[in-house]
Order: sequence, then C-alpha cells, then structure tokens
Amino acid sequence: MSAGEGGLDVPRAAGVELEGVTKSFGPNLALDGLSLDVPAGEFLVLLGPSGCGKTTVLRLVAGLEEPTRGVVRIGDQVMNGVDPKERDVAMVFQSYALYPHLSVRRNIEFPLRSRHVDARERMRLVAEVSSALQIGSLLDRKPAEISGGQRQRVALARAIVRRPRVFLMDEPLSNLDAQLRVEMRAELVELHQRLGSTILYVTHDQVEAMTMGDRIAIMNHGVLQQVDTPEKVHDRPANAFVAGFIGSPPMNILAGVVEPVTGDTAPARSPTPADRSVGGTDAGALVSVGMPGGSIPLGGPLAEAVLSRGLASVIVGVRPEHVSIDPAGSLAASVTLVESLGHERHVVCRLEAGQLVVARLAAREAVPRTGERVSLSFSAEHLQLFEPDTEARIDV
Ligand SMILES: Nc1ncnc2c1ncn2[C@@H]1O[C@H](COP(=O)(O)OP(=O)(O)O)[C@@H](O)[C@H]1O
Ligand SMILES: [Mg+2]
Repeated sequence: MSAGEGGLDVPRAAGVELEGVTKSFGPNLALDGLSLDVPAGEFLVLLGPSGCGKTTVLRLVAGLEEPTRGVVRIGDQVMNGVDPKERDVAMVFQSYALYPHLSVRRNIEFPLRSRHVDARERMRLVAEVSSALQIGSLLDRKPAEISGGQRQRVALARAIVRRPRVFLMDEPLSNLDAQLRVEMRAELVELHQRLGSTILYVTHDQVEAMTMGDRIAIMNHGVLQQVDTPEKVHDRPANAFVAGFIGSPPMNILAGVVEPVTGDTAPARSPTPADRSVGGTDAGALVSVGMPGGSIPLGGPLAEAVLSRGLASVIVGVRPEHVSIDPAGSLAASVTLVESLGHERHVVCRLEAGQLVVARLAAREAVPRTGERVSLSFSAEHLQLFEPDTEARIDV
C-alpha cells in the first residue's frame, strides 16, 4: 500500500469497534467492558475526568496495549495481536513529540520516509499538507524555532500526511492558549469535513467535546456512561454523572427526600402567574423534594413519575439557566460568589447542607451581593429526575 496515492481529499477512513473491552493494569481496572462502535468518517469525542480510561482506549486501538478481554476491530478486521505498525492509525498527542533535531519538513516527512515513499511524492505531499495547515513557510525551521500552536500543526501535518485509516488524538489542544485553542478547534472540524477521516478525539474539556464531536462518548471510572450527539447528551443525559459533567456551568444535581405537598407546606399566599413557571401550587405540584433549607416542588408528570415508582428520595437535575433568585423561591441559600462573564453572570450559592448551586442570569438582571441570603426557585418544566440508587435518568 503506498501512502502517496491520491491527494489529501481522498478519504481512506475505516470504522473502529470495541466489543466488551476490559483492560486491567495489575489490580487497576482501567476499562470495564467497553463497547463502542465508531462508523467510518465519524468524529467521535471521548470525554471524561482524568483517569477515566480515555488514553487507554486510544492506546488499545493503536496497539500500544492489548485488551485483557474483548475485541478491537478496525474496518471489520480484528486487531487483537496485530502489530501497531500494521494497524494504519496515526496518533497525535498533547506533547507534540516532534524530533527536535529535525526540520519541520523532515518531521512531517518522517512517516513517508519510513515507508520508502520516493522524494518527489514526499515533496508533493508535504507541500499539500503544509499549505492546508498554513505552515508552508516554516518547513526549514527546527521545532524550537516555532510557536506552540505551530508545533501542534506540525504534529497534525505529520499525522495527516500518512492518510491513516483512523486518527487518534489525545488532548491535542490542551497545551495551547485559550484563543489558539478556539482557532484550532475550528480548523480541526474543517479538516475533518474535508478529509472525511475517522477521528477518535480525547478531551476532558466538555466545551471542546460539545463543539467538535459528531457524537460524544462520556466515560467515568472506565465505564461508558452515554454515547450520543452533543444535543442529546445535553438535553437528555443518561444519568446524573453525565448531567453534572455537561454544560457550562454544568447541571446542578440535588438529592432530596420525596415529601407530599400538604396545606402546611404549600405557599400561604395566593398563587401568582410566576408560580406557574416555578412549579408552585397552581402548576399542580403533588410532591416536593425536601432538603435542608426548603424544597423543590415537582409539577404533574414529574410528581407522577416519582409517586408511581414509590421513590422515597430522588435526585433532581436543574441547569443553571433554570434557577432564579426569587424572593418567593422555595429553597434558602447564601450567595458565595458572583462571576461576571460580560454577557451573563453566574451566581454561586451555597445551600444549608453545604452544597453549591449555580444560577445563570442575564447581565441585565439584578444580582445579589456576596454573602446575601436569598431564595431560589426552579423552572418546573425544565427539571430532570434521576433514580436515587443507580442515578439513571427517569424518563417522564
Ligand atoms: N501503564 C499503566 N500502568 C498502570 N496503570 C495504568 C497504566 N495506564 C493507565 N493506568 C491507569 O488506568 C486508568 C486510566 O488511565 P488513562 O487511560 O490514562 O486515563 P485518562 O486518559 O482518562 O486520564 C488510571 O487509573 C491510570 O492510573
Ligand atoms: Mg489521558
């Protein structure tokens, strides 16, 4: 197989499949029964906290590790036991891993030389990829003579020039400053559209995941939590972990005790139109979720879901944009911090039990001062519920 056939635009993408993959390092279980099917041409983001097993997934696909159990396939071929060199994948790391003594050109050419691609073809491919990544003027410099962002492009160019069947990218942008990261994010998405390649992209940054991935696979402690489009993981998180990981700031997760709403606990004043939007009595709340400092009323379908399951306690998820600072609110808190982002403000509040809840307000809304005692209300129609034991989503 020659690396030089066709230009950059010819897709050579292959799908990747992991089936029941478990990986232990001695007593350490890094991956636990992971099954994941990535179709050819997909940009799949692996997202999760540090240590959840993301890098291990890439290393298993690359052949740098072998699974303890389970099967890894690339393009329908079983890869277990296949040498990394035979897998035809390219890995891009956070640390660019360029050869410091070689010029940019020689760095990019490196995989072509190892495959004995002839000099003319090498020239052509390097010219093509370096112009696509806007590093054509840097080819004679050494890595030490270019910026971090340029080094990252060189590392990408070296991967792209091989036109591998699969790209494996391990937090490739995390060493860049914020502005360059935004630029490179857009460029990688464009590049993916242009090359039609399969990309497994690892990040712990949920904004990167949401903006880049066709789908996002969210992991925790070596276990796949959900794999879905960015919209689905945001709007319909499979469990409380995903809910609390996605969003900026992420969803507030509040556990409480299911309490019937009686005449005593319902607001004494007559309902106002605002009650409808905050799930007050007028919206037909049958139960509320109690916690130190007050409760969160649940509207009709949510209350029914809790009652029909006979739950004594439940986990409520509410996004910061659906929390209001409201004198008629149902939960007492004190303001810990007000973060101003220009167009919006994040009011970080502490509940009586010590937990933090973030309310996201438009810049024009009045904000309380740090230390002030406030009441919080919750937009009833936007509340989500999770099982108290499994933390799985309760569909209503
Ligand atoms: N070579 C190794 N030896 C022992 N433990 C390892 C090794 N590689 C990874 N681990 C462990 O496996 C888990 C997953 O690691 P990793 O895949 O690097 O996580 P992530 O990339 O999500 O931060 C961690 O607990 C890590 O300490
Ligand atoms: Mg890692």
